[in-house]
Amino acid sequence: MEPIEKIKAHYNFTAGDAANLKQLQPVMEKHKDEFPNEFYNYIRHFEDTPKFLKDEEIIKRHQAGLKEWFMDLFSGEYGTPYVRNVERIGYAHVKINLPAHYVNAAMHFVRLYCLKILEKEFCADSNECRYLAKSVDKIIDINLDVITSSFIEEEIKTYFLSERVESYLIQFANRFAYGLNLTLVMGLVIMGVMVMGLFVYDISHIFSGNIEKGLLGTLGSLLMMWVVIELVDTEVKHLKGGKFAIRVFISVALVAVIRKLLVSTLKADALEYQLSLILIAAIAVLGIIYWLIAKVEKTE
Ligand code: HEM
Repeated sequence: MEPIEKIKAHYNFTAGDAANLKQLQPVMEKHKDEFPNEFYNYIRHFEDTPKFLKDEEIIKRHQAGLKEWFMDLFSGEYGTPYVRNVERIGYAHVKINLPAHYVNAAMHFVRLYCLKILEKEFCADSNECRYLAKSVDKIIDINLDVITSSFIEEEIKTYFLSERVESYLIQFANRFAYGLNLTLVMGLVIMGVMVMGLFVYDISHIFSGNIEKGLLGTLGSLLMMWVVIELVDTEVKHLKGGKFAIRVFISVALVAVIRKLLVSTLKADALEYQLSLILIAAIAVLGIIYWLIAKVEKTE
């Protein structure tokens, strides 16, 4: 909870406001018995009020608490003990799981109730009425601030119970995933070097007289090199926070099958012919999948 001096400063709550509220004490004193009843008349229409204010005994206790809280608004003393008490009231509502919205709505009633009294009692001097109303507004806002902070702190607390373990696990998983990604990049770079070796090997077939094998092999290794470039590019983008591109994995499979097809066309036996047919079907299926994914990624 923020220190009271800071809260007051943020609401521009001055000694003048404290004096104004103190000045209102005798006027409000006249309404202290009526206030809890009016308050209850207002909140009893909320659907869940009976769930919280279950029986006469609780209602009576609540009304006594309300009366005290109401008079404290005009005590003129707004130091740390005051804020601690408001905080305690906030926690009392957190403990019973009262929705914060109910407190906000009830506070709206309190504001209107006080303003109505001010208008009635100080109607002759509208300037004074406005000046006093500002001070009332401020103290009600401060109360609302402290009470709702109790709700928020409680919410954070439930998360913070395992926060240490959670953040440690998340940190560890993040680092581990990053380490794996770096290993993947390293692996891809090594793959790139190996494909370059394959490319040189395939070209050597051309110079050794086996032009058909050399050309088709080179075409295959060039395709593989293109895939490695795509994979490295995707992985680097992913490391920089980009989206994961499934399309690249399909292209890897596609290129691997195309390469296999290129190599199998070199052999002219019946078995290789049947294999070629299967490979062509596989290329068609992978091609359709690649096209579909590319289309979806484009529309996204
Ligand atoms: C401006 C808004 C409200 C204020 C200032 C307020 C004030 C208080 C106070 C002073 C207490 C006693 C805390 C304690 O001494 O431990 C209390 C408790 C309680 N409040 Fe409120 N209240 C507000 C809104 C509501 C609303 C809207 C509901 C229900 C719909 C509610 C239900 C209760 C209940 C059930 C308790 C516990 C009563 C008990 O078992 O003793 N309050 N409230």
